[in-house]
Amino acid sequence: MEVFTSTHPLVHHYLSVIRQQDTETELFAHHLENIATVLAVEATRDLRQQQIEVTTPLENCSALALDKPIILVPILRAGLGMLAPFRRLIPTAQVAHVGMYRDEETLEPVVYYQRIPAEMEGSTVLILDPMLATGGSASQAITFIKQYRPARIKLVNIIAAPEGVERIRQDHEDITVFLGVLDRQLNQRGYILPGLGDAGDRIYGT
Ligand code: PRP
Ligand code: URA
Repeated sequence: MEVFTSTHPLVHHYLSVIRQQDTETELFAHHLENIATVLAVEATRDLRQQQIEVTTPLENCSALALDKPIILVPILRAGLGMLAPFRRLIPTAQVAHVGMYRDEETLEPVVYYQRIPAEMEGSTVLILDPMLATGGSASQAITFIKQYRPARIKLVNIIAAPEGVERIRQDHEDITVFLGVLDRQLNQRGYILPGLGDAGDRIYGT
C-alpha cells in the first residue's frame, strides 16, 4: 500500500491552528477545508487523462481532459467537512454518501446511511474522512465500496494514527492513502494523540 504524507507548509500551518483547543468552529471548519484543498491537489496528481479536441476563439487544438469518472465518498459526518474543496476542484465528480459513527464503547463502526451512484465500476473513488484512528471506519467503508468494482480507491485523511494506517495496510493493500500528517499514537479511548479531538464535533460545534 502506498502512503503519501503531505510536506506542504500550508498544511502544517493550518494544522497548527486547528489542533488548538480554543480555535472556534468557524475557523476550524475553514482551515480544515484549506487542508482538504491541498490534499485534493496532491491526491489527484495522477488522474487518468484523455486527449480531446477543443475550439478556442482562434483555432482548434487538442487538450487533456479527465478520463474516467471520479466519485467522492465523504464518510459522514466529519468527511462532509472536506467535500466542498474536492467538489470545487472536480465539479464533475459524483458524490456517494456513507454514514457511520464509531461506537464509543467498542470503537467499532456503526453504519447508518448509504447512498451510492448507480455506476461506480471502473471509476476512481476518493474516500474523505479527516481522522484515521483505529482504521475500523475507513476499512469498512473501503470493503463496502469495493463491491461496486471501482478501478482505484484513494483514502484521504487529514490526521492519521500509525495504528489506523497499519489496519488499512493489512485489510486493503491495494489502495493508496494520502495524509496531511501522521500523528504519534492512539489513547485508550481510541483518540489520536496529539490529534485535534473529535473532528465532527469541532466542525459542527456540537
Ligand atoms: C470519526 C472520524 C472517523 C472515525 C475514525 O467519526 O470522522 O469516521 O471517527 O475512527 P476509527 O478510525 O477508529 O474508525 P465519528 O465516529 O466521531 O463520527 P462523526 O463523524 O459523526 O463525528
Ligand atoms: N475520531 C475523531 O474525530 N478523533 C479522533 O481522535 C479519533 C476518532
